[in-house]
Amino acid sequence: VGVAELSSGLALPPAVQIGQHRISCWYSAPYPSEYLHLAVLHLCPFCLHYTKSANVLARHLLKTCQLRHPPGNEIYRRTDLSVFEVDGSSAKVYCRNLCLLAKLFLDHKTLYFDVEPFLFYVLCQRRQDGWYLLGYFSKEKRSAQRYNLSCIMTLPCYQRRGYGRFLIDFSYLLSRRELLPGTPERPLSDLGRLTYQAYWTDAVLDWLSAKVFGSTDKLESASFISCTDLSSIEFSISEMAYSTGIEADDLAGTLQRLELLQLSSAQPLQQRQQLQVDASKLRRRLLDRRRVRQGSGGAGAGRRTVELAKLDEEALRWAPVV
Ligand code: ACO
Ligand code: ZN
Repeated sequence: VGVAELSSGLALPPAVQIGQHRISCWYSAPYPSEYLHLAVLHLCPFCLHYTKSANVLARHLLKTCQLRHPPGNEIYRRTDLSVFEVDGSSAKVYCRNLCLLAKLFLDHKTLYFDVEPFLFYVLCQRRQDGWYLLGYFSKEKRSAQRYNLSCIMTLPCYQRRGYGRFLIDFSYLLSRRELLPGTPERPLSDLGRLTYQAYWTDAVLDWLSAKVFGSTDKLESASFISCTDLSSIEFSISEMAYSTGIEADDLAGTLQRLELLQLSSAQPLQQRQQLQVDASKLRRRLLDRRRVRQGSGGAGAGRRTVELAKLDEEALRWAPVV
């Protein structure tokens, strides 16, 4: 999806300034009307308070703003990345400001005012003067539909660096800790669908190769790719769901999209006790993925070269509420 296409100049406000970044807005957000027609809305990088000018913002930062990180518990820290868990009922203003900011990059309706039923997981980068927002996701405190994420956004100036994947991985890590496989709230945006499908594909391929080898280190292992004595891999979809945190329906859809299954019955996948993956098809998928990762032209061309943010599960300091 071309961002140029999205930022057609119709969005109100047309641009926001946050920290060092001036970002063109993709869609409009319901900021109070007197803020919508400014050429640029100036946001406080810490509390996301919106102001009409750089001067007003400078004064806010100097005199008023008490925050240098999101108003919640730091539940993850690794290198310069931290995740804060912010409760919508105790930090209403911050969470509303965060939802307004996210709306600028989301075309479907999102909530802005009714933030109390949600927790917000805010990914920040630590710098000398504070923790700067990279992206976030929101999650219902209680979800009857087992949604483990309602809304996700990476600020456009930080997109395609792996932070979206990091946040999705984080949402599934929480689901694994809760022993409750989950799924994102629908509808997904085009970018949301691309990012989820890429994540689910890797999760399924990693899990299957770990099942064969007992460890993901050998993931791209040449020995598996060339080994011919294995014709199929048997597993249950609920086993896969509990160890990935990904709901069975999404796993079934991914296995089908990747055409990995040996189909032997018309029964819906989720209801079957055991599934068989065709080892030669899995081998082919792993080879394709290795080729793309090595960037040897074709589908690999144009891939990013930046170092990707990787989630370290050991760095999570969090326990589910019981
Ligand atoms: N084009 C093609 N593939 C993409 C794109 C894109 N623009 N963006 C992500 N992907 C896929 C790629 O496979 C990518 O891996 P690669 O870069 O190695 O090819 C993979 O997703 C991971 O990308 P990340 O860099 O981790 O994702 P990013 O930090 O850019 O965030 C996000 C993705 C959150 C969807 C971002 O695009 C965004 O904020 N968009 C606007 C808001 C939005 O649409 N949110 C989702 C709404 S749906 C919901 O909230 C439930
Ligand atoms: Zn502030």
